[in-house]
Amino acid sequence: MKFYVEILGNIPEMAVAEVEALSELGKGKVNGKDYLFVWGEVEDLKFFERLGMAHEYGILLFSSDSPEEIIEFSKSCNWEGVIKGSFAVRKERMANCIYDIQDLDKIIGGTIYSKGFKVNLSSPTTVIRIYCGEKLWLGVRIREFKGKEFENRKADRRPFSRPIALPPRIARAMVNLTRATRELLDPFMGTGGMLIEAGLMGLKVYGLDIREDMVEGAKINLEYYGIKDYVVKVGDATRIKEAFPGKTFEAIATDPPYGSSTTLSMERDMLYKKALESMYEVLEGYLSIAFPEDFDAIDVAESIGFKVIDRFYQRVHSSLARYFYVMKV
Ligand SMILES: C[S@@+](CC[C@H](N)C(=O)[O-])C[C@H]1O[C@@H](n2cnc3c(N)ncnc32)[C@H](O)[C@@H]1O
Repeated sequence: MKFYVEILGNIPEMAVAEVEALSELGKGKVNGKDYLFVWGEVEDLKFFERLGMAHEYGILLFSSDSPEEIIEFSKSCNWEGVIKGSFAVRKERMANCIYDIQDLDKIIGGTIYSKGFKVNLSSPTTVIRIYCGEKLWLGVRIREFKGKEFENRKADRRPFSRPIALPPRIARAMVNLTRATRELLDPFMGTGGMLIEAGLMGLKVYGLDIREDMVEGAKINLEYYGIKDYVVKVGDATRIKEAFPGKTFEAIATDPPYGSSTTLSMERDMLYKKALESMYEVLEGYLSIAFPEDFDAIDVAESIGFKVIDRFYQRVHSSLARYFYVMKV
């Protein structure tokens, strides 16, 4: 099945990598990208329900280099199989759009209407999408990810709140980059942001934090968001084996302290190195981890045995920039 994802523009390389990871889970792959429009083919679309760094995803129906061809397609397409209930056509002119699409939505909408389908511009049950970039893309939306859903899980909306948590969309993408399908460990869980996202995806979640107040707080947060399948403990990320004797983990996603707003249990770079060693001992698959830009994670991780698959840069504010890494044992 052909799909499209409209990704967010803040860290686009990471958003594409998230789509790639979920495509892999759906037994398929990404075939290309046109600005913020990513497209490919999968056997199973269901993993895209987990997306974090995306505006929407859907089924790709057609692509073309000319508006006329898209109009021709809309005349010949069997819309019976596509439109349920009412419909609306919505167009998106991306920053790299090279076509005149001024009336394209109205023309295609008119074509579909003339075939007997009901238009509802304010709340249609089916949304037909036109994206304009270097090419023209026509699709049908399956799911829109509204900002509001994620807003409700932001650090300051959690019952136990500390200003140390990653934005939920980023935490979710980090979980997805691990390709986890069963379980996830966050050994520096803090208020539990990563575990909330993973738990909402149906993964069993495990967490450690060196501070008892964080562990109690993370429990409150997990319960608040309806997550039941969790094990969280006071423990040291540099000694994971001691906290979970005999256990290995399918995936790890984590955001260690950067040293300014959170307490460090030892010198920062030593903590990172020892934590990476400890994660390597218990990990079966992928690690997704954030580090401040001035830490040389590639050399340290590779000397432990990790393969560094990807790295994405984010400047958070004038005094903080970080990299998100994806590594594999
Ligand atoms: C940046 S915060 C994690 C934020 C988290 N993603 C959230 O949603 O709140 C880092 C956490 O690591 C914890 N920590 C520091 N040293 C640790 C260690 N050696 N083992 C486990 N946790 C540690 C801190 O107490 C802090 O809660």
